[in-house]
Amino acid sequence: MIVISAASGALGRLVIDNLRARAAVVAVVRDPLRAPEGVPARRGDYDDPASLRAAFEGADRLLLISSPELDPARKTHHHLAAITAAKEVGVGAIAFTSFLDADTTATGMTEAYHATERAILDSGLPYTLLRHPFYSDAFLPQPSDGEITSSTGGRGLNTAFRSDLAAAAANVLTNDDHLGQAYNFTGPLWNYPEVAEALGVPYRELANPAPGPMSWISAQVRAGALERQTPDLERVLGKPAETMISHALSHQRTL
Ligand SMILES: NC(=O)c1ccc[n+]([C@@H]2O[C@H](COP(=O)([O-])OP(=O)(O)OC[C@H]3O[C@@H](n4cnc5c(N)ncnc54)[C@H](OP(=O)(O)O)[C@@H]3O)[C@@H](O)[C@H]2O)c1
Repeated sequence: MIVISAASGALGRLVIDNLRARAAVVAVVRDPLRAPEGVPARRGDYDDPASLRAAFEGADRLLLISSPELDPARKTHHHLAAITAAKEVGVGAIAFTSFLDADTTATGMTEAYHATERAILDSGLPYTLLRHPFYSDAFLPQPSDGEITSSTGGRGLNTAFRSDLAAAAANVLTNDDHLGQAYNFTGPLWNYPEVAEALGVPYRELANPAPGPMSWISAQVRAGALERQTPDLERVLGKPAETMISHALSHQRTL
């Protein structure tokens, strides 16, 4: 039996869509009213350790989908509660949706992911670490007033679509060969000017982006921090991951 935590979220639903015909799956959700349809659901809240123990009981595999909590201490607390519960009920193996560079960077964006990876290694449970890049779904180039703009300096982004990361997670959860592995998933490199060109729309670089999380990420992109490429996602998927250009072209009418 494969148990998916935070299964009511966008990623969890896609993982379950990939698994429902291949294995016995249980969706763990905070609110049963938000459970994905067609699979059994159990209640499990990262703030309620007893609920996690009951939810993970009998799991051969657990996919621990990271908490959306932004505060690193609270996010870590959520994950450690899940790992402790998994250990207490004897889950067969745990896969965790981590973040790129969580192995090497213990501060900032990856602080909670780093602490969680350490806790999984220390737990002695068989594991697979799925280090995600930023999701492409949040970076779709949107033509506005007939142009595409960004503050990324034309540098590359290694984002990947949730759909591919979910398919990769499903493959990991159904094949023992992935146990003991840590994957650094990156999507095919793309940049805003080339997507604008593919869509036949002018591109304009914005010197002063609106402040906020996207402005911080854009600065990272301009510094080349998102240009790392690995073969891991394509290998685990068994096919190339979707590119931003092909996605943008196939959704052109709705952009
Ligand atoms: N790589 C990236 O670019 C990126 C971007 C965004 C997020 N993430 C991370 O990836 C995770 C999955 O992404 P997503 O798109 O599926 O996020 P999402 O759609 O926002 O889903 C978040 C999930 O977490 C659940 N949740 C929140 N608090 C919880 C708690 N205390 N106990 C148990 N479950 C709780 C939510 O349950 P409810 O339905 O009850 O609210 C929901 O199922 C996120 O949680 C976040 O850690 C990564």
